[in-house]
Amino acid sequence: MDHRLGFEPVRGECAGVSLPVEGDLPNWLSGTLLRNGPGTFEAGDRRLNHWFDGFAMLRRFAIRGGRVTYANRFLRSEAHEHVREHGELGFREFATDPDTGLVGRLERLLAPNFTDNACVNVEARRDGFVATTESPRVVAFDPGTLATHGTTTDSTPGATRTVHPHHDPRRGERVGYATRFGRDPGYTIYRTPAVGAEPEIVGEVSVDEPAYLHSFGLTERHVVLTEGPFVVRPLDLLRDRPVIESFEWRPERGTRFLVVDRASGDVAATHRAEPFFVFHHVNAFETGGEIVLDLVAYPDATVVDALSLDNLRSPAPDLPTGALRRYRLPIEDDGESGGGASGGGAPRIGFETLYPGHIELPTFDYERRNTRPYRYVYGVSNRERPPADFQNQLVKVDVGTRTTRTWSEPDAYPGEPLFVPAPEGQEDEGVVLSVVLDARAERSFLVVLDAATFAERARAPTPHPIPFGFHGQFYRDDEPTRSMA
Ligand SMILES: [Fe+2]
Repeated sequence: MDHRLGFEPVRGECAGVSLPVEGDLPNWLSGTLLRNGPGTFEAGDRRLNHWFDGFAMLRRFAIRGGRVTYANRFLRSEAHEHVREHGELGFREFATDPDTGLVGRLERLLAPNFTDNACVNVEARRDGFVATTESPRVVAFDPGTLATHGTTTDSTPGATRTVHPHHDPRRGERVGYATRFGRDPGYTIYRTPAVGAEPEIVGEVSVDEPAYLHSFGLTERHVVLTEGPFVVRPLDLLRDRPVIESFEWRPERGTRFLVVDRASGDVAATHRAEPFFVFHHVNAFETGGEIVLDLVAYPDATVVDALSLDNLRSPAPDLPTGALRRYRLPIEDDGESGGGASGGGAPRIGFETLYPGHIELPTFDYERRNTRPYRYVYGVSNRERPPADFQNQLVKVDVGTRTTRTWSEPDAYPGEPLFVPAPEGQEDEGVVLSVVLDARAERSFLVVLDAATFAERARAPTPHPIPFGFHGQFYRDDEPTRSMA
């Protein structure tokens, strides 16, 4: 078997099994890795179209006293329960729509049927843990048992919201954005204070045609929205087609950076670059009157289609290269690149390539370095460029020296690496945790790498293969901070 095993459904749920541990875990490593991602890719006897459509299954690795316990449980979202009860899709997913006739389409016009299939990330909130997707509907769960508590709808405005809000420990707030379609299209940036449950609006940006945004950059004083030219055709949202098919690539628009002041909510600067597409920002910080913004860039939005299950389940999927780039954005708007949110002008912001090979699911020492200068990026990667296989190695990029370290082994397909810092030491003193599919052994394992050397310290095999997932967080026992917001 090869990487395709990672797109096969999981049939069983583990309530908490002790895993064998090969190697030694650091004695300071004590906490819970909670991860999210699809557990099945079917709705009744119908196959879903896209990796992002799969039904959420939570994974939990509790690491304590040198031991590892594993559990997995499907999220009992309304979307998933509908399939279990009726054998067919009840909600519109990312790239798969329910089979509905005219009545269904009319109902959708009156009340958009947001899915609560929250398969992308998890968040620790003041009042508990939730699983998230880009819909405003989040699903609360118990981090100990993974039992589902129920679905609630965030009060943030807009039709979609980011699954990558930023956590700012110095201000004690969470910052995110929502995208508004319809009559007053644009982006609403919000913050949720540490005390107080309700989000407050930081600022609003109006645009004619909202783009698909997946994440954003945060500095001490600014929010950066990177608006690629993958924009919505508003009327198409009302037609009988999956959400993502309502977006089209319009390269003549270029990619815009909207720099928003976190204090005033105003657009402080708008800059334009040659067109590119981004899912994931890495880090951003301010220095010398400019914002340094690191992200993973694709030449265009074909990566969205490339993550269809038809392509991913082929023996050699055709995947574009995501490159680690650094953009430098003047904080003051100089007028040359078009002032205001609707400004035009020729592209003038260039970039440096920090790592030319493929990288995705990028992470760093979020807890200590977010919004600050930093040195190390971790990500999934490929030994080949362009990728000739699914993600088959982990990479650590030193953005200072532009050198890299990698970890890989035959038939092993790693997921998002999360850095967990040691109690004290240099920026890369700590470990990197990743859930790896071992296609040859037909199971997965949690791998623990020494973050400095990228050598393996330990691994803990799971009883079954775990499908490829997206994001997760590590919550330390002594201080439940986030590896990445
Ligand atoms: Fe993401």
